[in-house]
Amino acid sequence: MENKLTHLQERRETTLAGGGEKKRQAQHEKGKKTARERLEFLMDEGSFVELGVFTQGDLEEASSLEIKNPGEGVVTGYGTIEGQTIYVFAQDFTVAGGSLGEAHASKICRVLDLAAQNGAPVLGLNDSGGARIQEGVYALNGYGDIFYRNTIYSGVIPQLSVIMGPCAGGAVYSPALTDFVFMVQQSSYMFITGPQVIKAVTGEEVTPEELGGPQAHTRDSGVAHFEDDSEEKCLERVKKLLSYIPPNNLEDPPRQEPKEPELDAEELVNLVPEDTNKGYDVKEIIRRVTDGSDFFEVHEEYAQNAVVGFARLDGHTVGVVANQPQIMAGCLDINSSDKISRFVRFCDCFNIPLVTLVDVPGYLPGVQQEWGGIIRHGAKILYAYAEATVPQVTVILRKAYGGAYLAMNSQAMGADISLAWPTAEIAVMGPEGAVNIVNRKEIEQAENPREEREKLVKNYKEKYANPYIAAARGWVDDVIDPRQTRNKLIRNLEMLRSKRENRPLRKHGNMPL
Ligand code: HXC
Repeated sequence: MENKLTHLQERRETTLAGGGEKKRQAQHEKGKKTARERLEFLMDEGSFVELGVFTQGDLEEASSLEIKNPGEGVVTGYGTIEGQTIYVFAQDFTVAGGSLGEAHASKICRVLDLAAQNGAPVLGLNDSGGARIQEGVYALNGYGDIFYRNTIYSGVIPQLSVIMGPCAGGAVYSPALTDFVFMVQQSSYMFITGPQVIKAVTGEEVTPEELGGPQAHTRDSGVAHFEDDSEEKCLERVKKLLSYIPPNNLEDPPRQEPKEPELDAEELVNLVPEDTNKGYDVKEIIRRVTDGSDFFEVHEEYAQNAVVGFARLDGHTVGVVANQPQIMAGCLDINSSDKISRFVRFCDCFNIPLVTLVDVPGYLPGVQQEWGGIIRHGAKILYAYAEATVPQVTVILRKAYGGAYLAMNSQAMGADISLAWPTAEIAVMGPEGAVNIVNRKEIEQAENPREEREKLVKNYKEKYANPYIAAARGWVDDVIDPRQTRNKLIRNLEMLRSKRENRPLRKHGNMPL
């Protein structure tokens, strides 16, 4: 027995040492932690339980102490983060560059399966040279096994991906299939084909950072949702996100102690400028309504004309979607349509009620938008809201024009409760555009066309650009004092907490993509 225990101890130590001291140092020199250091930082102290410790691809080595790839380049298991169970895999760059072979993939698949069976989130820390070249199609098949599970467990358990090193080629598709992607500045990048291949094929010269670094993906492509300048900050952000979401699709998000907003709600009456051509920061409104004035923004850098993120109302998590009037007047375009729809669908999968704040002049006009498929992309928002069955409350702050009024979760598209501020203007289009079309002849024939136009715009505003026509039909449930917004949201969401909605049975819909 003594011998066997010593052998066990030696095998364990070899595995825990990963690629060894030199590789560990090399990792530190790049400003990166090792896989085990990352898990130690992330998980509640002493909570991590490792699985597949002695997994071995090469069976010849299975009983010897000469282990070429300890742990097969990935550390897998489960533990808790702030008391909540979570399954994790962390690729170990010190072992064969964290490259993915058959056994590496099977370890990841095992935690994905366990996470789904037990209804807990799964988190992947990615730091890998990609498919292990020596394993050829065995490695490719391993990726397929992971992608398949990422897909069938989508909407069952939250899946989070953190990119902490290279993530290239087809390997990017596992993070891309998950719910949220986090990146770390200076050390992480994602691309399908790297700079060398691009130069050979198209002649374009670009650095890995420019091509697939955090800025490229949080600002330009929208592939990643969050970026941080250190691994520690990134992992802290992961913890914060987890605090808002439930462990699976059958449970509600955890409730926290309710807190009054820190910012003064009295200021809500002055935040929206009377001049409808002027912008303002909608986050100033969000923070005057939410618990503790907290707002955990998602996709902050991407499509900034829309704002999405998590907050709490009376201690309960809500997903907030808003137009951002200070960027492109808050118009909807291709990218903001994708951003909003994806967020709405996440909230709907995981029982997170939706609060939508509307100030939208319409869809962005432009040839590039039309040719880029604004029709197809814009349809996603309509589809996502109409498909959502979680409680939904919409507040129209100012403009709600045309198709964009419908898209931003009007009652007709599925909002359970629709409220409006007295400043709301719900109409087919803005006053200037409307009189140009409807009163063109009168304006042309008037003695003083400018004056006539101004008079007609004023008439239009009084007659159509207000919330009371929609309210008269019941499409707006109430017109409220802006200072009552928090209270009204809390009361209505409380009323909707037991909401049940049945839809016709089908395999799945055919969302425009
Ligand atoms: C096997 C690999 C590997 C790989 C790295 N290593 N990538 N081994 N398969 N894919 C090994 C190296 O040989 C080296 O081993 C150790 O990991 C560290 O790598 P270095 O090159 O020394 O590190 P660094 O200089 O930091 O460069 C990291 C790197 C580079 C940029 C990731 O290693 C690299 O370009 N690797 C290949 C990337 C790639 O083309 N992968 C395939 C992508 S396609 P030693 O023994 O020397 O320490 C793909 C398809 C997926 O993944 C398809 C899914 C459908």
